[in-house]
Amino acid sequence: MAGQINLAAFMNGGPMGTSGWRHKDADPAFLSASYYRNAARILEAACFDLAFIPDALSMPRSLGGSFRPAVEWGSGTPRLDPMTVLGVMAGASTHLGLAATISTGYHEPYNLARELASFDHLTDGRAGWNIVTSFQDAEAQNFGQDKLPPREARYARAEEVVEATARLWDSWDDDVITQDKDSGVFGNPDRVRAVDFKGKYVSTQGPLSVPRPPQGYPLLIQAGASPRGRDFAARWADVIFSSNESLESAIAFYQDIKKRAAAFGRDPDQIKVLCAATVVVGETDAEAQAKHEAFADLVHPLAGLSRLAYHCNVDLTQYDLDGPLPTLEEVGVQGHYEEVVEFAQREKLSVREIGRWYGARTEGNMIGSAKTIADRMEHWVAAGAADGFMVQATHLPGAFQDFTAGVVPELQRRGLHRTSYPEGTTRDLLGLKRPLRDEWMNRVAR
Ligand SMILES: Cc1cc2nc3c(=O)[nH]c(=O)nc-3n(C[C@H](O)[C@H](O)[C@H](O)COP(=O)(O)O)c2cc1C
Repeated sequence: MAGQINLAAFMNGGPMGTSGWRHKDADPAFLSASYYRNAARILEAACFDLAFIPDALSMPRSLGGSFRPAVEWGSGTPRLDPMTVLGVMAGASTHLGLAATISTGYHEPYNLARELASFDHLTDGRAGWNIVTSFQDAEAQNFGQDKLPPREARYARAEEVVEATARLWDSWDDDVITQDKDSGVFGNPDRVRAVDFKGKYVSTQGPLSVPRPPQGYPLLIQAGASPRGRDFAARWADVIFSSNESLESAIAFYQDIKKRAAAFGRDPDQIKVLCAATVVVGETDAEAQAKHEAFADLVHPLAGLSRLAYHCNVDLTQYDLDGPLPTLEEVGVQGHYEEVVEFAQREKLSVREIGRWYGARTEGNMIGSAKTIADRMEHWVAAGAADGFMVQATHLPGAFQDFTAGVVPELQRRGLHRTSYPEGTTRDLLGLKRPLRDEWMNRVAR
């Protein structure tokens, strides 16, 4: 039998996916706190490891160079700030990990270190950071740049930002504050030090104004898929979020990541790979399939194409919509592009058909009865394709309710998922060690 399956929940700070808002059971109140509190309660009742909120710092406007399709079809917009959403969810939960996507391209290490350390303290060690480098020109243009910098420069900046952030977290030893009321000594100044980091992209003096986080560092998550992105993830990440079109490509990715981690001197078991899994659960496989098809019918092909253009950072209207997708040289999110190429070539799809499919895509093909989905998850983990799943909802809260009512008890019956939370932080839940001060410095390429 496979070991425990880690479960994270992928949910937007806004409506889900491309047309999730159109689902008959979608709650339209995604601008209210109760929507997120409700999701936190559902996930915590099912003992999920964490909730994860993706992000982008712009309105999507790759399709036809305009934000109009995004607004017209409700694709990828609106997006509330992830940390604010997670603050609301923190108040409605006590064990659930809470991970925010924050870009290294448009944040400074001091802000990042302070915000995430504060959140980790206030949640007793439940903070996570999905480290992204941003992927669209539209994001760059919101921060005074004309274009997204090339991948190499984005990752070079990301290395500096994460290093400086880690140094800021490490600028306090653990247990500096003693608060001895008798002597009047609050803390030990010998155990706090400046950082004095000077890089090409960012510099910071330090120390941080917040003590070392309960988890040492908040949980670090990454989803890079290019060779450069994989190396970055293998060096820094505790959790890697992958999205693969087939079991074979998932196994190849998993093996590659664990090999790269070992090459950085890390224990490969200390990195968890969570594979994207969009779930559609029915009483039977046929009912789930019918549910999925009814939902797919709601997706306008242009809404799907808008989402794909946004992920690729390429205006797809420049190509013949009824012809095949040409090879794209420089894309925003390599991982999503690779999945599209794999699927479109196999199914011989035109650009328009890709749009329709992409809008209603169910990553990991997790459509079926609770038993079918539990079987598939168990199989993927046993086959060495993943350590767990980033469970993606087509709509909220219904898709999480279906999953937690059907699939979670099935996994629990099989001994593959916990039935109650142990004490501890999000790292403890995932079986990840608390990093020692400066431990990351040993992670050098071999
Ligand atoms: C499954 C998955 C989810 C991602 N989520 C986000 C996100 O929420 N925000 C973001 O800016 N980038 C996101 N990315 C992009 C990556 O983190 C990465 O920055 C980007 O793909 C560029 O690196 P790459 O070319 O190495 O993949 C995601 C990528 C994948 C594969």
